[in-house]
Amino acid sequence: MELQGWVIYNGYLQGNKFLDFAEWIQRAASKQNIKMDIYRHNELLTYLAVSSMSLLNVKETELPHFAVFADKDIYLAKQLELLGVHVFNSAETIACSDDKIATYQKLAAKGLPIPRTIVAPKAYHQLNSVSLNEYQAAVDQLGLPVIVKEAFGSFGEQVHMVSTKEEVYNIIRELHGKPFMLQECISSSYGRDMRLHVVGDKVVAAMTRHSSHDFRSNVTAGGSMQTYHPSTEENDLAIAAARAIGADFAGVDLLFGKNGEPIVCEINSNAHIRNMYDCTGINVADFIMDYIRKTMK
Ligand SMILES: Nc1ncnc2c1ncn2[C@@H]1O[C@H](COP(=O)(O)OP(=O)(O)O)[C@@H](O)[C@H]1O
Ligand SMILES: [Mg+2]
Repeated sequence: MELQGWVIYNGYLQGNKFLDFAEWIQRAASKQNIKMDIYRHNELLTYLAVSSMSLLNVKETELPHFAVFADKDIYLAKQLELLGVHVFNSAETIACSDDKIATYQKLAAKGLPIPRTIVAPKAYHQLNSVSLNEYQAAVDQLGLPVIVKEAFGSFGEQVHMVSTKEEVYNIIRELHGKPFMLQECISSSYGRDMRLHVVGDKVVAAMTRHSSHDFRSNVTAGGSMQTYHPSTEENDLAIAAARAIGADFAGVDLLFGKNGEPIVCEINSNAHIRNMYDCTGINVADFIMDYIRKTMK
């Protein structure tokens, strides 16, 4: 049986970044004689009816054996799974990775090190009456400065460091209705973190990221990258973190604790691989396709 796969990226997002990832995966697959077709997620419409589910305009016989899902459309990922396609990463993993609160809950349940975090109680936007009193205890517990972080966000854009109670309250008012958390600021990691790329049960590439002008080290926000050789403790933590959310592969971000100990910051189930290649010369796509080929045997 010749293995056939799809790679799916978001057709709505601007810029080449997402197609770029798909093409890297496709090239890596072709090196291993695996045929992969690239699809935009919005070309594949989920169809649901009585005793029938499918993708509109795709015959059952045209479905692939597996899909690399480079998007966060978890309904589509789930639909593929229900149709018998093996999806990497799974719909459940993508959903958990996308939601930072869900991620921290999984990590805490496994006893893995994370910044102390307090989750904002769910609020309905239209009620529009946030009582700030309940946050007093949270700020007292976490101290200042404190990190205010939305559950859903990327490129550091939904992560704020705030130094006064007034600022905390202003941000909370703005975020009212969205899921967010308050989080201990790991000041020993100011402007730097490490990205470890896990595939299966191995760290295959790693780098540190450093920003000279911001507490956030995201490369998209101007952080610079450097090849890194993680310690055994850092490797083990990254692998355990990826496993905690059931990821086949993931970019795991670790912060530097006060005594140099690693602390999990986030797990990206859809981590980009070009930056890692530019920095380390390691093509993570080759490892991903190798892992998929072995898993699909
Ligand atoms: N608790 C924290 N303490 C210190 N720095 C943090 C903390 N949380 C996040 N950061 C910094 O902010 C950056 C972005 O946060 P992150 O949670 O990874 O969100 P995003 O998904 O937007 O990248 C991290 O790479 C790190 O540099
Ligand atoms: Mg991040």
